[in-house]
Amino acid sequence: MENIVIQGGTPLKGSVEISGAKNAALPLLAAAILADEPVILHRIPHLNDISTMTNLLAWQGAEVTYDDQNCLHIDTRPANKPEAPYDMVKTMRASSLVLGPLLVRFGEAKVSLPGGCAIGARPIDMHLKGLEIMGAEIEVEHGMVIAKAPKGLHGGRIVFDMVTVTGTENLMMAATLAKGETVLENAAREPEVVNLADALRSMGAQIEGDGTACITIQGVDRLAGGDIYTISDRIEAATYLAAGLMTGGDVTVTNTDPHLLEAFLARVKEAGATVETGDDYIRCIANGRLQAVNIHTMPHPGFPTDIQAQFMAMMCVAEGTSLISETIFENRFMHVQELVRMGADIQLDGHTAAVKGVARLSGAPVMATDLRASASLVMAGVAAEGETVISRVYHIDRGYERIEEKMRSLGANIERHYVQK
Ligand code: EPZ
Repeated sequence: MENIVIQGGTPLKGSVEISGAKNAALPLLAAAILADEPVILHRIPHLNDISTMTNLLAWQGAEVTYDDQNCLHIDTRPANKPEAPYDMVKTMRASSLVLGPLLVRFGEAKVSLPGGCAIGARPIDMHLKGLEIMGAEIEVEHGMVIAKAPKGLHGGRIVFDMVTVTGTENLMMAATLAKGETVLENAAREPEVVNLADALRSMGAQIEGDGTACITIQGVDRLAGGDIYTISDRIEAATYLAAGLMTGGDVTVTNTDPHLLEAFLARVKEAGATVETGDDYIRCIANGRLQAVNIHTMPHPGFPTDIQAQFMAMMCVAEGTSLISETIFENRFMHVQELVRMGADIQLDGHTAAVKGVARLSGAPVMATDLRASASLVMAGVAAEGETVISRVYHIDRGYERIEEKMRSLGANIERHYVQK
């Protein structure tokens, strides 16, 4: 097992380079299944979730190799196992993203239902309903989704009951090789959806409307390979910017795009920080103590649920009381009790947390529970007075590349310790 040990209290200063986005890279990897030529993926982050997906593709029979420029080469032509077994999916829900591509390419797919998740039930019923509208026969038994489309998939009009990011991505990928036109209504507008659409178009897909709530796809006969580029990880960028602000620091994130974080940056300015941006960087400077600001998570372009825990950590030391409402997931406040252990004053009422700012947090032993909650504990540890020991840090490694190294480059006193089980 591994712990992260932090001696807090140093204001973070300096700049840190942002990696490619986990939530963009995962659907791009699944899209490789659709290509009848090799694809070369650029700026793929080195994360446990990425390894889970590349291991799955290799298990299916694809050739997966990194070159000396750190680009990932994937050739799925040899793949002949349209399956995603339980022992692979259980560690990463996003493996369900291979369902649409496998089904439309092979005419069949067997993908384990993703298990539960700390932050909520996270079913994939909308993914399955959409595939049925496109002609798939779907059965669920023994925890496996068994999908068949012996005559291939055909277009259809799919209206999502609620916005689903990977649901939009799964069905958009399936539609690229379906017969005829598919319209996705109430589609997700996240930048990662647009990144995927850009990649699919570069492979020959015909897609319009990505980035809006209505995406139209005309099916084509084949998709080529080629170079595919991953956008910057906006959630990672927001994490380091918020960490800098809650320590009273001055942090710049580079190799990123300020347009990816408009809702977050608007709230940061409202909290009294100075925000400077350029084509590929964002700088946030604390001007004394931050003011409390209310947030309400929403699908893009609203405030991202994936930044909720990090923003809450920042509000724990702000002036005043911040009301934080989580509308996307039913259980995404697992970080609250851990932050309270560190001296935060947070009252929970259903999907809303009332965060009353305190002058300082105090270091304590805490436990990571899910990816973004873990990041909020690292931030709190860096800002707190004294020592913080975070256990179960494997949650962090799913979504943050070299977090200790990047935090240390900003002046944090942070180490990873290996402890006996
Ligand atoms: C994606 O998850 C992200 N993961 C999540 O990031 C992110 O929090 C989430 O979108 C919301 O932005 C990836 O992109 C790999 P949803 P996803 O389908 O697609 C319900 C992180 O921290 N729903 O948009 O699984 C669902 O339960 C992760 O990097 C259904 O009911 O989320 C949730 O309440 C965490 N039925 C809501 O919709 C369905 O068929 C939104 O979920 C699908 C979803």
